[in-house]
Amino acid sequence: MAETETEDSNYRPVNIEFLEQGGDELFDIFYRTESFGEVKFVKFASSSPEHQDKVRNILESGETEEEFYIHEEDLFKYYKHATNTLRAMAKNPRIPQKEKAQKVYEVSKTIMEEFFEYNASNKILTSSEEVMSIMDECLSHQDVGFSALSEITNKDYYTYTHSVNVGLYCMTFGIKIKLPPDDIKYLGLGGMLHDVGKSKVPYEILNKDGKLTDEEFNEIQSHAPMGQEILQGMECYNTKVCRMAGEHHEKYSGGGYPNDLEGEKIHPFARVCKIMDVYDALTTRRSYKKAMAPFDALILMKKQMGPEFDPKLLDKFIMLMGPDL
Ligand SMILES: [Fe+2]
Ligand SMILES: [Fe+2]
Repeated sequence: MAETETEDSNYRPVNIEFLEQGGDELFDIFYRTESFGEVKFVKFASSSPEHQDKVRNILESGETEEEFYIHEEDLFKYYKHATNTLRAMAKNPRIPQKEKAQKVYEVSKTIMEEFFEYNASNKILTSSEEVMSIMDECLSHQDVGFSALSEITNKDYYTYTHSVNVGLYCMTFGIKIKLPPDDIKYLGLGGMLHDVGKSKVPYEILNKDGKLTDEEFNEIQSHAPMGQEILQGMECYNTKVCRMAGEHHEKYSGGGYPNDLEGEKIHPFARVCKIMDVYDALTTRRSYKKAMAPFDALILMKKQMGPEFDPKLLDKFIMLMGPDL
């Protein structure tokens, strides 16, 4: 007899594709049924090795449109499995590079979505370190340029897609300017986590359409120091990563927030993050504006916002945005 549970809100949809590889931690996989208006979650398999065949059969049959779920408390374990699967995929020479990058993007996006949209605990952010390191492998091996990235990034603006996009841009920049391997990872990770403080700002304020009051504006601005605090509090992130969250709204010419730092006083990684942050915001769609074309965004950044950015870094970025060599 299959086990059933009915508490709707405690189940999270998962992508069964990412369960192929398995892992040491066990959890149950459910599917959802509805009868007489009642929703039930029925156990389909567990992540144990004995059940892996069931998962593999589904994948081989191509019937993956069925939705699968896990219990919310198993999210962290699920992402461990998903990153194991991604690692194996990244090493597989038969899978095209672009497809690999797309899969990593997909998993990164759901991690950030869980965090921002479904209030998963901070612990889930530690999974982002693993996905960024896999992303680094995919991007470095293939020498992917910025214009290739535009094919995998999502053009609709949500805090979670924006976070992953900024992480990708920062990482690509690090690869292109040939930073040491550890720094490439810190830059990518810091980019992905730069806005984590927004999880503490009320949704209505973050998404308010009209003019913000001074108080609301202060609340939004607090996401920078709050983000730094969250990451420092987790005690697993390098200072460079934490400072990217804290200083990405500082302006090179001064007058930014939260500390009105200027020029070289702003951490170089935070200066890179600011460029990628603005670039992604301009080139994605919002409810009130269309996405700008990359070229137009660069012109606006250079001509109208120039002094806000580190000029050397901005010029380097503009140069790298040309066609992939
Ligand atoms: Fe921000
Ligand atoms: Fe941002």
